[in-house]
Amino acid sequence: MASAWTWILVTTLLALAQGANAVCSTSISNRVFASCQDLPSLGASYAWTFNNATNSVDFAFTEDMQVAGGWVAWGINPTNGPIMPGTQALVAFQNSTALTVKEYNVTLDVRDSGAPLLPSPVSVNYTNISAEVSSTVVTIFGTFALAAGQSAKINQVWNRGSAVALTNFQLAQHDLSPANLLSAGNIDLSTGIATAAGLPHQKLKNTHGVFNAVAWGILLPIGVMSARYLRMFAWADPLWFYMHIACQLTGYTLGVVGWGLGLQLQKYATPIKYYHRNLGIAIFVFATLQVLAVVLRPKKESKVRPFWNVYHHTIGYLCIILIIVNIFEGFELLEPASKWKRAYVAVLIVLGVVSLVLEVLTWIVWFRRRQQSKLELKNQV
Ligand SMILES: *[C@@H]1O[C@H](CO)[C@@H](O)[C@H](O)[C@H]1NC(C)=O
Ligand SMILES: *[C@@H]1O[C@H](CO)[C@@H](O)[C@H](O)[C@H]1NC(C)=O
Ligand SMILES: *[C@@H]1O[C@H](CO)[C@@H](O)[C@H](O)[C@H]1NC(C)=O
Ligand SMILES: *[C@@H]1O[C@H](CO)[C@@H](O)[C@H](O)[C@H]1NC(C)=O
Ligand SMILES: *[C@@H]1O[C@H](CO)[C@@H](O)[C@H](O)[C@H]1NC(C)=O
Repeated sequence: MASAWTWILVTTLLALAQGANAVCSTSISNRVFASCQDLPSLGASYAWTFNNATNSVDFAFTEDMQVAGGWVAWGINPTNGPIMPGTQALVAFQNSTALTVKEYNVTLDVRDSGAPLLPSPVSVNYTNISAEVSSTVVTIFGTFALAAGQSAKINQVWNRGSAVALTNFQLAQHDLSPANLLSAGNIDLSTGIATAAGLPHQKLKNTHGVFNAVAWGILLPIGVMSARYLRMFAWADPLWFYMHIACQLTGYTLGVVGWGLGLQLQKYATPIKYYHRNLGIAIFVFATLQVLAVVLRPKKESKVRPFWNVYHHTIGYLCIILIIVNIFEGFELLEPASKWKRAYVAVLIVLGVVSLVLEVLTWIVWFRRRQQSKLELKNQV
């Protein structure tokens, strides 16, 4: 049963981790493209047709600017790789009357010295540019030609921001969240094989986050609760034990997967996030001790069993505290959309309230039982 559970959870989690992006379409506003690709951050997508005869590319770039007065940008970086400086950008925004697209030559000064980003001539010959907006989701259409012999594998860079100065069309800086800093990659337009590369680690981070929040941060606390609170009901014996074991084993198994992904992430983290990493290692060690402790637990009648109980409970509660601290630390590092953090806080509140109610019930049951056994004792005497 535990393995079926694990399978269901893993597939759900993987779907969740991947579902964060938009779903691209090759058919946009009556125009049909040969290929499309979800870009790995900011929910953007790219559709295109490579025209072999003219060696040119028709494209449609779609991204949600999130606020009506914001901007979305897409561009090729022909010289410097998939990074911001050097990008020959097309930027769409609402001017005082209509949605408009302008060209911006994004220089190193913009990133490194805060130079204003103003409309400027670009080296890529973009033609037939237009844009459409639906609510705040913008699509930029256009065409560009590849020079003879130029590889069709381009460096693309995209982003979005919340404001544009309508006097000189200066763009307000985009956010500095990881998703905004990592919105770049490559795409091979000739083969239709899109290697939106350069960013495998963002997906890895998201998957690591989802696995760990669900496994360590939700399943394990539920397992602890089932052990503490179900046990008082006669009908729930030994059900509570199976629930406890099922939750903890599933949580531990998935958690170890998420933990392993975290170890992988050290390769990409500069600098390494030691606090988050060391807490993660401590949690893994404590949780592994807990699993071993269950395997090696003394019999119920054994004299050392009460000591084992104290040990198992102390390490268990300590572990839960460390887990919650580290999940919030993870939120700080990953900076996912705030709804994810809110969702986790909501889960914690629900678990907390349920625990509080059950805790009170447990004490009531405990007092009643004690009184009853006192009464029985008296009656016997
Ligand atoms: C594109 O055109 C070149 C020469 O014009 C040809 O060699 C190549 O096979 C074509 N590629 C595709 C995918 O049609
Ligand atoms: C606003 O954008 C539209 C479409 O690009 C353009 O025709 C119009 O002149 C622009 N208006 C101003 C005030 O810039
Ligand atoms: C873009 O800016 C860079 C750096 O200032 C400059 O060297 C380049 O010529 C500019 N490109 C165009 C097309 O003006
Ligand atoms: C840009 O492309 C258009 C259409 O293909 C062409 O007419 C124009 O001459 C090109 N401009 C430059 C500077 O290459
Ligand atoms: C420009 O785009 C429009 C709309 O998709 C299309 O009908 C037209 O053929 C394009 N023109 C060129 C020169 O590519």
